[in-house]
Amino acid sequence: WLAALQARGITDLDKVHVEPWLAGINPPHMPTGRVIRAIAFLHEHPDDNYYARPIEGLTAYMDADSGEIIVEDHGIVPTPTEAADYAAQFQNEFRDDIKPLDIAQPEGPSFEIDGNLIRWQKWSMRVSLNAVEGLVIHDVRYQDGDRNRKVFHRMALSDMVVPYGDASPLHFWKHAFDAGETSLGHQANSLALGCDCLGEIVYLDAVMLQNNGEPRIIENAICTHEEDFGILWKHTNVFQPELPPEVRRSRRFVVSCVHTVGNYEYGFFWYFYQDGTIQLEVKLTGIIGASALHSGTDFETSPQVGPNVTSPIHQHLFCVRLDPALDGGTNSVIETNVEVDSEGAHPYGAGFRAVATPLTTEQQARRVIDPATSRTWKIINPNSHNAMGNPVGYKLVPPSTPTLLPPDESPAGRRGGFARHNLWVTHYDENEHYAGAGPFTNLHPGNRVGLPSYAAADRSVDDTDIVVWHTFGVTHVPRPEDWPVMPVEYVGFTMMPTGFFDQNPALDVPPSGHCSS
Ligand code: CU
Repeated sequence: WLAALQARGITDLDKVHVEPWLAGINPPHMPTGRVIRAIAFLHEHPDDNYYARPIEGLTAYMDADSGEIIVEDHGIVPTPTEAADYAAQFQNEFRDDIKPLDIAQPEGPSFEIDGNLIRWQKWSMRVSLNAVEGLVIHDVRYQDGDRNRKVFHRMALSDMVVPYGDASPLHFWKHAFDAGETSLGHQANSLALGCDCLGEIVYLDAVMLQNNGEPRIIENAICTHEEDFGILWKHTNVFQPELPPEVRRSRRFVVSCVHTVGNYEYGFFWYFYQDGTIQLEVKLTGIIGASALHSGTDFETSPQVGPNVTSPIHQHLFCVRLDPALDGGTNSVIETNVEVDSEGAHPYGAGFRAVATPLTTEQQARRVIDPATSRTWKIINPNSHNAMGNPVGYKLVPPSTPTLLPPDESPAGRRGGFARHNLWVTHYDENEHYAGAGPFTNLHPGNRVGLPSYAAADRSVDDTDIVVWHTFGVTHVPRPEDWPVMPVEYVGFTMMPTGFFDQNPALDVPPSGHCSS
C-alpha cells in the first residue's frame, strides 16, 4: 500500500483518506471471511473535499476476521489536483438577494404527538426508526365521519440496491444495499431546526442498539411538521361571475428522516394529504462517486463532471414494503391499464377504456411499469364497499422508473432480484421482511433469497392478508451540476384513495379566510 502510494508521489499519509466499503460479495482471492473493500482519496488540507482527488487504480481488501490485507494496483493515473469544495468556509461570495422567508404558526402546529402516536387532522399513525429499514410508519388510519378507518398496517423501505455500471477498478464491484447491509437507521442524522426542516417542528429521538450492546440515542432523528402545499382544489364559475371562486389551500403532514451513508445522503419524506393521498418522496443528495480522468476513461459509463473528475453511472433502486389493511380486512390487488377501445365501440373510433386485471398469485403479480397505458395497481378490500357498491381501494401510482440493469448472473443481479420488477405482491408472512439477500444481506451471494424467494412459492394473493412491494428509483447519469455536491434529486410514488371514500373527502377543509386581491 505504501509502495503504491509512493509510486504516485504520495508520501504524507496524513493526507490519505481511506474509505471502507462493503465488499458486496467475497472477491475470488478472498473467498471467505468478512471482507471490506477500501478505496482512497487525497486531502490537501484537513477540511477539504477529499472526494475531489480519488487515488485511481488502487484498492485494498481487508478480511476483518483474520486481519489479512490484499492490495491491488491497477496502474497509475495522475490524481486530480483541483479543489472542489462545497463547504461554506470555502465560498468566496454568497448571493445577496434572498429576503427572509419565515414560516409562522402562532397557534402552534395542527398535530399532536403522544409517545410515538401522531394525530393530524383526520390522520393518525405511529412512527419509529428501525435499524435496517429506517423510518417505519405504523397503523395508518383516517377518521371518516364516525368511522376510524385503517388504511395501512405498516409502511417502510425494505431494502435498496445501488449497482454501478462502470468497469473501472474503483467502482465495478459496487452494488451497495444501504438498508440491508449498511443499516440505514443507524445512519440517521440528528436534524437541525431551520436547516433540515422549517416551521413548527416536533422532533423525535431514536434509540439504536450498538454492536457492543449499548444503546445510542440519535437526537432529533425524525422530523414531523406540516407544510402548505399550494392548491388543494379550486373552481371558478365563469357563468356566474358574482360568485366568488372556491379555492382551498392544501396542507400536508410530513414525517421525515435523513441518512448519511458514506459519501451519499438519502432523505425519506412521507407525506399525508387532506384528500387521503399518501406519498413517499426520497431525496437523493450528497457527493457522487468520483474517478480521476485519464486517457482510458469511458465517458458513456463515467461522464466528466469536473476538470479532471468523472463519475460512474449507477442506479438507486428502493424497495418499499407496504402492508395494507384497507378497512382492516383482507385485500387484493388489481392492475389497471388504459387501452384503446375495440373498433365500433365509439362513434368516432376514438374510445379508450380502463381495463382492470386482478393479480391473484405471487408469480402473476410481478409487474413492471407502463407509462404508455397509465398503468396503476389498486389495492382493494373486496369485502368493504363504498356508496357505489364497489370495493374500497387505494391505487399505487408508480413514478417513471427503471428496473435493475445488471443481469441475473451478476453479483448485483443475484442479490438484488427485488429490483427486477416494480411491483410484487406476496402472501403475508411475519418472517418475510427483507427484499434483498434476506435478514443477513452482508456478503450473501444471493439467489433464492429475499423477495424473489418469497414470491417463488406462488401463493394466492387474492382476498387474503397481502404485502405489496414497490421497487422504484433512478438511473443516475452524473452531470457537472452534481459536482462537487449534488442538488437534491427526487423520486417517489403516490397512493391515492380510489373509491375508498364516497366523494372528495376534503370538502370540509375551510376557506383560508384571508384571501384578498
Ligand atoms: Cu446517484
